[in-house]
Amino acid sequence: MLGEVAGHKRERRIEGRFKESGVKEKKTLETFDFPFQPKLDRSAIENLATLRFIDTHEDVLITGKAGTGKSHILKALTLRACGYERLVRYARCVDLIDHLYAGLADGTYERRMRGWCRPEMIVIDDVGLGQLKRRDDEPTAAHMLFTLIDRRHMTASTAITSNIKLSAWGKYLGDTTLAAAIPDRLAANSIHIDIDGPSYRQHLARKRAKEQGLEPPTYEQP
Ligand SMILES: Nc1ncnc2c1ncn2[C@@H]1O[C@H](COP(=O)(O)OP(=O)(O)OP(=O)(O)O)[C@@H](O)[C@H]1O
Ligand SMILES: [Mg+2]
Repeated sequence: MLGEVAGHKRERRIEGRFKESGVKEKKTLETFDFPFQPKLDRSAIENLATLRFIDTHEDVLITGKAGTGKSHILKALTLRACGYERLVRYARCVDLIDHLYAGLADGTYERRMRGWCRPEMIVIDDVGLGQLKRRDDEPTAAHMLFTLIDRRHMTASTAITSNIKLSAWGKYLGDTTLAAAIPDRLAANSIHIDIDGPSYRQHLARKRAKEQGLEPPTYEQP
């Protein structure tokens, strides 16, 4: 009975952690179709799933084209870490930058930045997706991202996904020099996984079209 109560309490704590993490959908590695992505090193992902990288304060960078499962993997790791009651915070890159920008307007920038420095693991998802705000009188997205990654570097894990090449980060983030300093930090103590393979979204779209007896859609990725 006591054990049952403790179990329920723990479940509620874990559910609370997951809600606070900012991930909206529960993804797991159990539902990840590894055979679909044959060039992806499954053991590298299973190694990440041990969450040892959080203890060793390593960063994680997952790159690859759209729909290859980058966000799925980091969302699954977030869920897993919450299951072990670890403090994790997730945001898409555009939302993280928007959140920090809002702090410039109301004087809470430093407090917000500290809030992002605190968790044992943060996920910055989808670097390269979506339009970043840019104003000449304010720090660039590159400045904010660099500050955050630099402050966390070697003391807490930062996991990032991107579907643009690292060489394109400067243009995307608005500052070539600072943007180049980010992968430089990451190179020092990080696990880099590149997913070179097909899009699962396109796979689903083709499957759906087939089920409906329609012509399968064709897409070209740049
Ligand atoms: N190998 C896979 N097995 C099962 N589901 C997958 C797999 N790869 C991707 N998916 C699913 O396909 C959808 C797209 O995947 P995901 O969002 O992870 O792609 P992504 O690489 O982050 O793409 P983007 O660069 O556009 O953000 C998600 O619903 C995800 O759960
Ligand atoms: Mg993604």
